[in-house]
Amino acid sequence: MHDEPSQNRSHTVNSRRRFSFGSNWQKYLDDLPPEATDAMRAYVAEWLGADLTGLRVVDVGSGQGLTSLSVTRLGGEVLSFDLDPESVAATRRLREVAGSPTSWLVEHGSILDTSFVAGL
Ligand SMILES: C[S@@+](CC[C@H](N)C(=O)[O-])C[C@H]1O[C@@H](n2cnc3c(N)ncnc32)[C@H](O)[C@@H]1O
Repeated sequence: MHDEPSQNRSHTVNSRRRFSFGSNWQKYLDDLPPEATDAMRAYVAEWLGADLTGLRVVDVGSGQGLTSLSVTRLGGEVLSFDLDPESVAATRRLREVAGSPTSWLVEHGSILDTSFVAGL
């Protein structure tokens, strides 16, 4: 016997129940340590470069939004999306904390939804 996720910790996609990461991301942002944003920024800089001016990034499954935040802080543009509404809310919350930069858009959608992806 195994535990099913409670209703508020899961949602349905294509008739299949998925775990909701978003409620965890919301709690994570409640106590976000400053070193977490610095560490992610350093990681993204090592991965994509320290100056992302002119680069446009799509953050698929943005979760808490730290990768997207790092891209904008390094000068890039980013479109974040996530299938979990609470993850979308968490990403939007981090965007607001960052001053709601116009170079950072946040949407709700799934990478498996071909009509959503076609509309990006
Ligand atoms: C492990 S978390 C990663 C979050 C963040 N990108 C990071 O690196 O910390 C995976 C995220 O992908 C999202 N996700 C899962 N399936 C997805 C799909 N089909 N389309 C968009 N997002 C999805 C989940 O809701 C969750 O927020």
